[in-house]
Amino acid sequence: MTIEHKIRQLIRPEIQALSAYHVPDPGDAIKLDAMENPYPWPAPLVDAWLERLREVSLNRYPDPAAQRLRERLRGTMQVPAGMDVLLGNGSDELIQMLALAVAGPGRAVLAPEPSFVMYRLIAEFAGMDYVGVPLAADFSLDLAAMLAAIGEHQPALVFLAYPNNPTGNLFAIDDVRAIIEAAPGLVIVDEAYAAFASDSFMSALGEYDNLLVMRTVSKMGLAGLRLGLLAGAPAWLQEIDKVRLPYNINVLTQVSAEFVLDNREVLDLQTADIRRDRGILFDALAAIEGIEPYPSEANFILFKTSAGKADAVFEGLKARKVLIKNLNKAGGALTDCLRVTVGTPEENLAFIEAMKESL
Ligand SMILES: Cc1ncc(COP(=O)(O)O)c(C=O)c1O
Repeated sequence: MTIEHKIRQLIRPEIQALSAYHVPDPGDAIKLDAMENPYPWPAPLVDAWLERLREVSLNRYPDPAAQRLRERLRGTMQVPAGMDVLLGNGSDELIQMLALAVAGPGRAVLAPEPSFVMYRLIAEFAGMDYVGVPLAADFSLDLAAMLAAIGEHQPALVFLAYPNNPTGNLFAIDDVRAIIEAAPGLVIVDEAYAAFASDSFMSALGEYDNLLVMRTVSKMGLAGLRLGLLAGAPAWLQEIDKVRLPYNINVLTQVSAEFVLDNREVLDLQTADIRRDRGILFDALAAIEGIEPYPSEANFILFKTSAGKADAVFEGLKARKVLIKNLNKAGGALTDCLRVTVGTPEENLAFIEAMKESL
């Protein structure tokens, strides 16, 4: 039997049908495709961090509960008293742990569309049904459609990215509350971009017994560490913790994250600069004929090109060594749309110049 034949027999059909999550190689291009913080640390901070790493025992397993780091994150992320924190290898892993903990025949994950693609992918990995409910034309929640879908599918998990990726907007607070109140299962408000947003549901945790709030350090400037956190009632987190692989937060991540959180002001200054430059970048995009940027509460901006132009603009940027994200192929509301991450002022200028040349 050939390998191909065995694959067809063995690998689940829905997995065979997936294409692997593709991350393009940026080469020497300006990288504005992945919502990373573009800034390095000051040299003395790098030296102090390397000193701290000397103390790490790589021959030992990490603290399985990452106790010190969890305590540190509770403060940094303003987790309300009485709520607990569960850590993941990126928030991606937390989404997977949530799915594994509830998966079963007929169990559904529900999210608005377009939103973060891993909600759908992880639902499929876990063998769950996925229900995507289209956003309204202005990218707000279509509350009536959401409530109808929740009534029909009784989802075990509802994911609301707040602000949403790739659209960048915060949903209306009352819509989110109505969904939490109507949902029979857990509602996870995914605040990956909290560092750039004007609102949060963290302080609402105690108000609802089916609400969890997810955060990550990735967009704050620590994407390489792979560290996300889920905050919520201890009773929920204790159950979800049972599907966590032991030692999922490696020792370098634990020590490095504690170190950075002790020097938090460096990241805070960087994220403040990114918020300022988001406004400048938005205005520069809006000034380009045929380009419509959408307001953003995150560290990226979604924008629409004139009809049928998005692929050519994307390729034009790539040829000029600027890599952004092409969402046109996703279709639907994202037809003609591209997404750019806010970079350094120099990177943003180079992007705007390349935009003008590409058009
Ligand atoms: C809404 C949202 N949630 C979660 C993530 C994943 O973050 P992490 O790097 O913590 O896995 C992303 C990354 O793009 C995102 O956009």
